[in-house]
Amino acid sequence: MAGRLPIVCDSDAPVGDGDPIDPIPLAARGTAGYPGWLADRHGRHLRYLRLSVTDRCDLRCVYCMPEDGVPASAKEDVLSFEEIVRLLRVFKGLGVETVRFTGGEPLVRRNLPELIRMVRDEVGIRDLALTTNATALAPLAKALVQAGLQRINISVDSVDPELFARMTRGGDLSKVIAGIEAIQAAGIAEIKLNAVVVRGQNDERVAELVEWAWARGLVPRFIELMPLGEAANLGRDAVVSVAELKQQLAPLLADEAPQHRSDRGPAGYVPARHHPDRVVGFIGAVTDNFCHRCNRVRITARGDLRACLASPTGASLRDLMRAQSSDEALSLVVEEALYGKREGHEFYVPGVDRHHAVDMSRIGG
Ligand code: 5AD
Ligand code: SF4
Repeated sequence: MAGRLPIVCDSDAPVGDGDPIDPIPLAARGTAGYPGWLADRHGRHLRYLRLSVTDRCDLRCVYCMPEDGVPASAKEDVLSFEEIVRLLRVFKGLGVETVRFTGGEPLVRRNLPELIRMVRDEVGIRDLALTTNATALAPLAKALVQAGLQRINISVDSVDPELFARMTRGGDLSKVIAGIEAIQAAGIAEIKLNAVVVRGQNDERVAELVEWAWARGLVPRFIELMPLGEAANLGRDAVVSVAELKQQLAPLLADEAPQHRSDRGPAGYVPARHHPDRVVGFIGAVTDNFCHRCNRVRITARGDLRACLASPTGASLRDLMRAQSSDEALSLVVEEALYGKREGHEFYVPGVDRHHAVDMSRIGG
């Protein structure tokens, strides 16, 4: 296994600092220096894969899609269930333990419960999660949980029906609420609500969302708007910082710094002032650079590997599979590409703008 592959994806080469991609130390694979997990040259172990199953969506959130939407991929360009299972077996072999299904809107993909069952039974990955807008969740909730779905994140930017409709350009909040109730009734292990905060839209309604979530036994989380794709056009002023949000929520929250739960993603949690069992999550996607503890890998619906949310391109694993590459060759390509994972996202570094080109609606966060 000596020598090195040609670099198949150099899109993650750092910009501006002249630091070239190091070759992956293939000779070190499987040795003490390289413990058999996917790892990058910054020493991060990558064990969490976000898989987009479609780039279609029934909503048009103002920070995610243009009003007319984006052209959807043709069916044959999107990974089939069989291709997904094969890829996930390769990633499992490299140490990936968690898969989160995203979109677009993942519930738009037909037979999603069947895919989840296949991943649980045929791949053997058990920590299975979904990020959804929940508009189509109610009728599918039971089947998803029976298929092995353990955790769900539901995107709700406002609990005011009119504001919700404005931010999603036409979404029906009552369907989302029906979805939340159905997945609670189905007995899922974990539910979180995610709200992206946009100045001038929902930034003064966050307390309302917190009270609403707590009344239903749910964990609300607020995400800073990232300047990616469509959101890059909203400008920096649209970003509402976690510090601002915490100040606004101060009457409800204990006077504590956000606590990060180890291995559980970028959110920090603050308990309620009088109810230690109630918490609010904050994801400082812009102001708190959490890249140093990032353990994530992403795959788009078309089967492109994305080492970082902020990278607009990546190797096509689909094309390799369709060109009859072996599993070993796929593993090597994945390891090589991810070894060069960027150290950070560089959202606001002067002179660096690849972010307009990031197709956020195709990656699903
Ligand atoms: N900044 C922050 N969050 C975003 N999402 C989509 N676009 C952005 C952005 N520019 C969120 C969605 C959803 C998840 C998939 O990603 O609201 O919660
Ligand atoms: Fe659809 Fe999610 Fe984008 Fe909103 S943020 S348009 S729900 S993919």
